[in-house]
Formats: sequence, C-alpha cells, structure tokens
Amino acid sequence: MALSNRHNLDQYFALVQSLDIRRIFAAITGLIFVALYFVASIPALGGSGFFQSYITSFRFLANPAVMVEEGYKKFGKEGIFRAPTPINWIVVLSPEQHQRESKGPNGHLLSFDAANANNSSGEYLLGPGVFRYPYHLSVIRGPMIKNTEWLEEMRNEINVTCEELIPLSSQWKAITVLPTVRTLAARALHRIMFADPDLYRNRSFIQVMTDISVEHINSIYKFMFLPNFIKPVAVPLITSLPRMRKKAYAFLGPKIEERLKGNLTDKQDDLISHFIEAVEDQHRNAPSLFIRILQLNTAVIHGISETAFIILMELAARQEYIQPMREEIEEIVLQHGWSKTALSLMGKLESFMMETIRVNSPHPLNSPRKALTDYVLPNGICIPKGSMVSVVESARHNDEAVYPNAKQFDGLRFYNNNRLAVKSGTQPRTFTSITPDFIVFGLGPQAW
Ligand SMILES: *[C@@H]1O[C@H](CO)[C@@H](O)[C@H](O)[C@H]1NC(C)=O
Ligand SMILES: *[C@@H]1O[C@H](CO)[C@@H](O)[C@H](O)[C@H]1NC(C)=O
Ligand SMILES: *[C@@H]1O[C@H](CO)[C@@H](O)[C@H](O)[C@H]1NC(C)=O
Ligand SMILES: *[C@@H]1O[C@H](CO)[C@@H](O)[C@H](O)[C@H]1NC(C)=O
Ligand SMILES: *[C@@H]1O[C@H](CO)[C@@H](O)[C@H](O)[C@H]1NC(C)=O
Repeated sequence: MALSNRHNLDQYFALVQSLDIRRIFAAITGLIFVALYFVASIPALGGSGFFQSYITSFRFLANPAVMVEEGYKKFGKEGIFRAPTPINWIVVLSPEQHQRESKGPNGHLLSFDAANANNSSGEYLLGPGVFRYPYHLSVIRGPMIKNTEWLEEMRNEINVTCEELIPLSSQWKAITVLPTVRTLAARALHRIMFADPDLYRNRSFIQVMTDISVEHINSIYKFMFLPNFIKPVAVPLITSLPRMRKKAYAFLGPKIEERLKGNLTDKQDDLISHFIEAVEDQHRNAPSLFIRILQLNTAVIHGISETAFIILMELAARQEYIQPMREEIEEIVLQHGWSKTALSLMGKLESFMMETIRVNSPHPLNSPRKALTDYVLPNGICIPKGSMVSVVESARHNDEAVYPNAKQFDGLRFYNNNRLAVKSGTQPRTFTSITPDFIVFGLGPQAW
C-alpha cells in the first residue's frame, strides 16, 4: 500500500475543513480579493479574470498538488506561473530558475526569513519579535548543526526513549506511530536544549511540548490565509495555543530565569546557554528566550515526525526492504560505530528514505521566499515587491523525465543511481543534497 499524500494535505489545509473558518473566510475574501494587486505579466493558473481566479483559488486550496502539477505541465520545466490563494498570488518558479536566482547576486532579495515570518503568523501565535530578532537562527545554523557531541547525546536519548516506548518483546505489540515519533523527537531536542533531566525526562513536560507543536502547526495553517487585521481577534477563538503556552512556560520560565541569573562558572554546554550568549541585552529575558524555544520545538518535532512517520509506514508496507537495510546498518556500525561517518555510509537506508519522500512528496510547493523589492528576472518578467515566491516540489518529484517510472516505488532507486554516479565520476545524491530534482529541504543558500 503506497501512502497517498492526503494525510499531509489534510493537515496542510485544515483551514478549508474547519467550518467556522470557512464562514469567516467567505465573508472577508470577497473584500480582500478586490484589493489584490495582479501580477499581470506572469501567466496565471486558471486564468486571471476576476471570477476565474476566485474560483481557481478555491480549487487550489482544495487540491494544491493537482493544480500545481497542471501548472508545471502547462508552463513547462522552465516556466513561471502564478497560483491564486484567496488572499494573494503565489509566484511559482521552476526549480532551475529558483536555484539560479537564489544563488545569484540578488538572491538575498528573495528572502526565506521574510516569507517564513509572513507564512507562520509568528507575531500572533508566538509573540512579538520572534522574526524581527532572529538571533536564535544563527545558533541553530551554527553550533546546533555542527556539534557532534550533541549528536551523540541525542542518539543516546533516542536509544533510551525507544527502550521505554518500544521495548523489545517476542510478542506483537501495537504502537501508535505518530505520537511515538513526536515523543522521540521531543526528547532528543530537549536533551540538548536544557542539559537538565528534570525537564527532558519529565513526561508532563514532553507531553506539553509535543502537544504545543501539533497545535502550533494547525494554527499556522488556519492563520495562513487570514489577513493580518483579523489575526489578533482570531487568536482566542480558533487556537488553544495561548493556554498551552502558559503550561509550557510554567516548566521553562523558572529554568530560564535560573540560567539568566546563574553563575558562569558552572555553565552547561547546551542550546539554551548558546541562545543566552547570542542574544542582545534588550532581549535577554525569559519570555523572549521562551518563544524561541517554542519555535524550534515546533520546527524540530513537526519536521522529524512528519518525515519519520511516512518512512515508517512505507517500511511497514514494504517489509522486503527491512532485511537488506538491517544488514547494511549492522555491518557499518560494526566498523565505524554510531558516528556521523557511519550514517553517511548507509546508502540503502538513505535511498529508501529518499524514495519514500519522493513518492509521498509532502508539499506541492516548497522553498517559500518573499520578494523584498520589485524583482526582475533575466527574461524581463517582474515579480512585484511583497510577492510570495515558491517552487514546484511534488510535480517535479513525479516528473517522468527526471525519474523514469516515477509512479513506481523503487526503494533502491537512489542507491543504484548513486553507484552509477560514483562510477562515472558525478556527484552522488544524498538526503540533504540541495538539487532541483530533490527539493524536500528547499533550494539555494537559505535552503530549508
Ligand atoms: C507580511 O508581512 C508584512 C511585514 O512583515 C506585513 O506588512 C504583511 O501584511 C504580511 N502579509 C500577510 C499576508 O501576512
Ligand atoms: C541502548 O541502550 C542499551 C541499554 O540501555 C544498551 O545496551 C545499548 O548498547 C544501547 N545502544 C546503543 C546503540 O547505544
Ligand atoms: C514533572 O514536573 C512537574 C513540575 O515541575 C512536577 O510536578 C512533576 O512531579 C514532574 N514529574 C516527574 C515524573 O518528574
Ligand atoms: C555558583 O557556582 C558555584 C560553583 O559551582 C556554586 O557553589 C554556587 O552555588 C553557584 N551559585 C549560584 C547562585 O548558583
Ligand atoms: C508559505 O508560502 C509559500 C509561498 O511562497 C508556500 O509555497 C508555502 O507552502 C507556505 N507555507 C509554509 C508552511 O511554508
């Protein structure tokens, strides 16, 4: 049984399913739509006439994957088109174009951080300043990713957590995948966030943090297409985030205060200490640090659990892959231990993961950017300042010209291709390669 990407899309557009939102929506979109500016020189999916695009915008919300694929086929691989949502147009670039532009000298003018700030309603859902003063992102892009000691600590914590949640037994035992992988991700993250077992080993704390990540993502999608002036009013009505935030603060607030007052002699090597080091004086307070922890909490738990979920389900449906992957892993770990090098050598495992993501591409569009100025492409087309820009993901992952027999699941597709690549001296493709043909983490220097 191949998984369809319905699960993710349902979550993605939870908005459309929720009745009260639909009512608010219907009332306001009519007004907003009139106020929209039209990106007139860029071909529009479904036509750019007023009613045509209005109708298309709802088709887009209901089934973005099909609509984007339509655009990709119609306007071609090198094409550019725009897709309407009820409140704006998204300018969709081809993967090559997106990569060229974001690597080019003006790449910074198509900003990931600005798009993310707009998309995620962070100011309303988390608190003020979370995107205006993103000092925490430099810690994540620097020490968090590079610190191999932390990698080891996370791995140990995952091991311990697995033994608790999925103990070995000779009998079959039912395990609910999603909550389990969320807990695993939360324990691994908070192990390095606060080197404090009172937190990362406390079940109530981990429960609060996983609950909050789920509610946060749901709220982002509910808020994505609301205009800003509605958002403050909508917060108490359609999200329980404020209540959950209070619960989380009861755990984290005092611990952060303690660190802020603490003496530097017994400084711990964990993420929060790096955050405190990186923050400017005017933001060095517990509430400000707290919302940054929340943001990272959601990104990590959502990102890991979404990916791990589809991989585990696909593996459950294709058990013939278990044995060869297990053999590969055992052999490599015997030689290299559980190191970063070892992970990079597990070609079959990696291939299976990549193929799963390719076939179940979770996002019709990816790599969001916002144009900070009027942005002129080499062919003269202008993307107006403030436009949201994106790139085709799932349609590309299903393109027969890129992936022959694209509809077919072949767990060793990337493994076999990489062996050929190594033979012919070209670059093998890994899970984290940034290439127009595999866009899960976005494209360009600000890839996500
Ligand atoms: C996007 O962000 C800008 C400034 O950060 C704001 O003025 C604008 O209203 C936002 N748009 C949406 C749709 O949230
Ligand atoms: C996981 O933990 C168990 C004991 O708790 C230990 O025997 C085992 O070696 C650990 N595995 C790894 C890979 O660290
Ligand atoms: C978890 O933390 C809360 C609040 O600090 C505490 O009341 C509770 O006893 C802790 N639970 C465990 C299992 O340690
Ligand atoms: C500061 O560190 C010293 C040595 O580790 C310890 O004895 C002292 O209690 C600490 N002070 C505070 C306020 O935590
Ligand atoms: C953000 O906006 C872009 C449009 O540029 C879109 O493709 C993307 O799916 C949106 N959502 C998220 C969560 O990034």
